[in-house]
Amino acid sequence: MKNTVMTFRQAKEKNEKLAVLTAYDYSTAKIMDEAGINCILVGDSLGNVCLGYKDTLPVTMEDMLHHTKAVARAINNALLVTDMPFMSFQPSVYDAVTNAGRLVKEGGAAAIKLEGGREVCPHIEAITQASIPVMAHIGLTPQSVRSFGGFKVQGKDEAGARKILDAAKAVEQAGAFSVVLECVPAKLAALITRSVSIPTIGIGAGNACDAQVLVYQDMLGLFTDFTPKFVKRYASLGPQMRQAFTDYIKEVKEGVFPAPEHSFEAAEDFIDKLY
Ligand code: KIV
Repeated sequence: MKNTVMTFRQAKEKNEKLAVLTAYDYSTAKIMDEAGINCILVGDSLGNVCLGYKDTLPVTMEDMLHHTKAVARAINNALLVTDMPFMSFQPSVYDAVTNAGRLVKEGGAAAIKLEGGREVCPHIEAITQASIPVMAHIGLTPQSVRSFGGFKVQGKDEAGARKILDAAKAVEQAGAFSVVLECVPAKLAALITRSVSIPTIGIGAGNACDAQVLVYQDMLGLFTDFTPKFVKRYASLGPQMRQAFTDYIKEVKEGVFPAPEHSFEAAEDFIDKLY
């Protein structure tokens, strides 16, 4: 079944949970789509897991467009959402609408995600008025890692929790169709989920959220530079890949691969006569 922003709204009304994963390439997105994922997020986490940066700040619009196009070619049913990278929307509402438009028009995204609370509400309003659905993202917003002083759980004191609850209500009011809650206490996420009519998408926010999202390399055990507490490993593909690479290297060096079944034959024996 095709997932749209309407599917998201209806799922919340029907109290049905939604599953979201990140993807950045054609092959992975195709498998996820076939598996029935509701939404694929081309997250700017690609800066960490694909490009090897320490944080998401260096990720560019061109990076996001490149990977969004690859994912868009793969999916039939999942809702495709693309992250707006650092400094693609913060400078002005004009930049926000123009760059959101590029992700939809050139990249093939169905919706965009941007980080921030009340301060980005004018941007959310303008983008939604341009008929582009917006997924908001509050709590630990990795593009603000420098001002947070690190990747820390947010909303752990009364003032912080109140600010996040206020942000959730503000982004809903501004027109966001859903909101990511990253690294906030489970009880606060549950309160926010009850307090807004748009679906909440949790990552490190407990299981009361309407949806969950994970970075796929984390859940498959492919990215091991660090593993946040909220990650559950559904597979351990890193060691399996390492073993496969080791076997391949060995077989190539020993002349075992390719075997006859991996090679092509000519029907005639004229090749013997060539010199
Ligand atoms: O960039 C990303 O992958 C994200 C998700 C973790 C929510 O923002």
